[in-house]
Amino acid sequence: MHRKKTQTGIIPLSEIFYRNLTYSVTVNSNLMVLCICGVIEHNTCTGRYSERKVMKKTISTFQKAKENGEKVTMLTAYDYSTAKLIDEAGIDSILIGDSLGNVILGYEDTISVTMEDIIHHTAAVARGAKEALIVADMPFMSYQTSVYDAVVNAGRLMKEGRANAVKLEGGASVCPQIKAITSAGIPVVGHLGLTPQSINALGGYKVQGKSEAAAKQLLEDALAIQEAGVFAVVLECVPSKLAALLTEKLSIVTIGIGAGNECDGQVLVYQDMLGMFSDYVPKFVKQFANVGEVMKQAFADYKKEVSNGAFPSEEHGYKIEDDVIEKLY
Ligand code: KIV
Repeated sequence: MHRKKTQTGIIPLSEIFYRNLTYSVTVNSNLMVLCICGVIEHNTCTGRYSERKVMKKTISTFQKAKENGEKVTMLTAYDYSTAKLIDEAGIDSILIGDSLGNVILGYEDTISVTMEDIIHHTAAVARGAKEALIVADMPFMSYQTSVYDAVVNAGRLMKEGRANAVKLEGGASVCPQIKAITSAGIPVVGHLGLTPQSINALGGYKVQGKSEAAAKQLLEDALAIQEAGVFAVVLECVPSKLAALLTEKLSIVTIGIGAGNECDGQVLVYQDMLGMFSDYVPKFVKQFANVGEVMKQAFADYKKEVSNGAFPSEEHGYKIEDDVIEKLY
């Protein structure tokens, strides 16, 4: 039921426009009265105001989850439609990973991914995801070169891509970049363990931190980037017990991928968890659905039906009056 209601009191001008309210101004000697009328339904204005209430996740959502012992969920996405589906499923955060080099662009590693690639895909994801926190990966050589480059490029991911945070790989060596980016008001996620941008230095995709020295180094790096200001850290291909220890020692959120069950959260590449990428499947991947097979079957069915004339049928066509078409023959 719609009821006209006159509202008095102090309402910011921005809200008047946001809520599509009409208003009139009365000037009465030295008193100016702003009278606002709007259509109120169950105390909520109709129109744009009554759309799905958006509860945008923020870095405090991550922090609160850790404090409350609740798991944080993150998935990668690179396009509008997938981001929308992931967002509607309630996933906390979407990462536009430089894994797009592998799963979208077909490179054998992430080295060739550019700022333009990440910005382009981040902007598409940002248009699709209303609630998930959007984290954009900083590509190879967009931050390693200097602190200045790091801040400029992180800024581009926010301004042009509309990311809510950026992610970069590395430990103590990238602390100056993390400090500068966070000082510019940009939240940063770290990435330790297997860092694919350093694949040539690491000598292959291997589990990291297995020896005492390597495990100690990983802990020192994690503490260093926490001190520098990251609000979360991705731990990739790290032994489960070491990831559990890091999770206990750090006050920031740990997000595991191949790092066991005791991290504060988990991340997966969506094509991996949907069986859509078969070039290689890491041990840590669980296939939650075989969408790849469903797609292949649908493509084959389409080919068959187009070939035998079954598609499109009448229901997929548009009508025209017979007398109009007859005149053209
Ligand atoms: O690029 C990416 O998708 C990532 C995840 C694997 C964490 O960095």
